[in-house]
Amino acid sequence: MTHFSDDDIIARWKEKPAPLLPMLHDFHDRDGYLSEGALRAVAQGLRIPIADLFGTVSFYHHFSREPGGLEAPRVCTGPICKMNGADELLGALDGATAMPCSGRCDEPIPVLRGHDTLIGLSAESLESRPSPLPPAARDSIEECVFAHIRESDRASLGGYRNTGGYEGLVKALAMAPVELVQLVSDSGLAGRGGAGFPTGRKWKAVADAEGDPKTIVCNADEGEPGCFKDRCLMDYDPHAVVEGMILAAYATGATRGFIYLRYEYPETEQVLAQALDEARRAGLLGSGILGSDFSFELYVRRGAGAYICGEETSLLNSLEGKHPFPRNRPPYPVTHGFEDLPTVVNNVETLVSVPPILRHGADWYRALGRGEQAGTKLISLSGDVARPGNYEVPLGFPLMKLIDDWAGGTGEGRTIRAVTMAGLSGGFLAGEDLEVTLDEPSIRSKGSFLGAGGIMVFDDTRDMVEVSHQAMEFFADESCGKCFPCRIGTQRLMERLAGKAGPKELQPWIDEVVDLGKTMMETSACGLGMAAPLITKSLLKYFPERVSDHVTR
Ligand SMILES: Cc1cc2nc3c(=O)[nH]c(=O)nc-3n(C[C@H](O)[C@H](O)[C@H](O)COP(=O)(O)O)c2cc1C
Ligand code: SF4
Repeated sequence: MTHFSDDDIIARWKEKPAPLLPMLHDFHDRDGYLSEGALRAVAQGLRIPIADLFGTVSFYHHFSREPGGLEAPRVCTGPICKMNGADELLGALDGATAMPCSGRCDEPIPVLRGHDTLIGLSAESLESRPSPLPPAARDSIEECVFAHIRESDRASLGGYRNTGGYEGLVKALAMAPVELVQLVSDSGLAGRGGAGFPTGRKWKAVADAEGDPKTIVCNADEGEPGCFKDRCLMDYDPHAVVEGMILAAYATGATRGFIYLRYEYPETEQVLAQALDEARRAGLLGSGILGSDFSFELYVRRGAGAYICGEETSLLNSLEGKHPFPRNRPPYPVTHGFEDLPTVVNNVETLVSVPPILRHGADWYRALGRGEQAGTKLISLSGDVARPGNYEVPLGFPLMKLIDDWAGGTGEGRTIRAVTMAGLSGGFLAGEDLEVTLDEPSIRSKGSFLGAGGIMVFDDTRDMVEVSHQAMEFFADESCGKCFPCRIGTQRLMERLAGKAGPKELQPWIDEVVDLGKTMMETSACGLGMAAPLITKSLLKYFPERVSDHVTR
């Protein structure tokens, strides 16, 4: 990158789709930060008002405006890394700054430096190493998305094809698009990114919508603390992501696609670039795919560090080079998505589930779940368990069986104080409510939700007021500020959990926290502000004595 001039960089991206982020990354990589000169060149090149560009760039965590910023270490201070000593590591590394959970909670503390992720518990032990493969499946339970992921060479095109890869695409090309949509609907597959919207219905809405070109977006932003499943899928099974996206495009009539990858996965970007290159050369991307008259082009766009960009409309604004505020809905992305045209936004895991559904059939997929539940779910399990990692379980699987039998339980002589659900967004479950099964109806009946499937375990040495404070600090930092119930509410709740503000008597403190949470849930404009109060709600439900202690002392 060092040899590119400003004009080279502008010319390289100007006519490409979604040019702002890659252009900014090129300048950032070349200079090690974003200089004022670089921003002026970008503003001029893309005809963006310079004031808007400054505002947008400063919204992202990882675009440094200081010389040397790219090379300065950034230490993950997510909830699990805090338990592992992230604050000490932060103090021990020269010029280090904190970053929110960077999606490697099954390992020691990650540190980003330049384009590398280093892992370790101390400054001396930091090393670069691949992310772990998922632990082996247990109890003869059949997997869907992890079924072949542990096979060697699966990440290459040859390895993927040897284990059934792209067979689904060949099958699909012999079907009408409408039949493919019906198959996905029949399988019962629902979104695995958090909201659980039925995938077949989403695809049908895009297929039926007026407007061209249509777009497929793979949401690989994975910013939820405690979630690291999509990283595993992309690192070890990148062609499954590509095949899932091609299938979504064929079903809906889309001709272009983007993988929106979170900044904190630099190694994954290389893996995806290689897979796209291989797929293109093999005629699986581009025009006339596998000799058919169907064409689809795919691009990777790297985010720059902002949790809210995982919210689909914020993501679309980010791709379009706008300030990444969530959009007001309706209209929804299925009719007014990327560049106001029909767009599918699907999570990585959702898309990766589709090729096996094609190969084995809708009934097979449905039957993988238990009872009324269709299919499987990846769970990212971390914290106080013997074997943290990504586990694929049938939907409807008992939570405690996963924690105790599969993941080896908590430490010797310890018990579980609480677990989080949906990363942090679902708040806590504790006590008898740990007897849930891993599916939305069961978890929602306890006032929480499964979401993207991140579960952090806290044993009986952990202080849940402190964990709640850290969680609310995360939401307050990541609130985009567009609507005031969330912007102000997350701050007020964070201050109360820090013991810095609020009534000094228990009942008025509780009344105020409940009132703040209720207002946020009812009036916030997007899921961040609606979910954040589940932290305080569940803290009050399960740990009233600890709250009393916190307030009165
Ligand atoms: C604050 C917030 C953050 C989100 N982050 C992600 C994310 O990182 N990845 C993701 O797939 N979905 C995320 N979502 C959900 C998306 O908005 C969207 O529902 C999802 O990408 C749709 O794909 P699916 O139907 O396959 O789940 C987030 C939602 C909210 C409100
Ligand atoms: S709820 Fe929070 S994150 Fe969502 S739009 Fe409002 S301020 Fe932004």
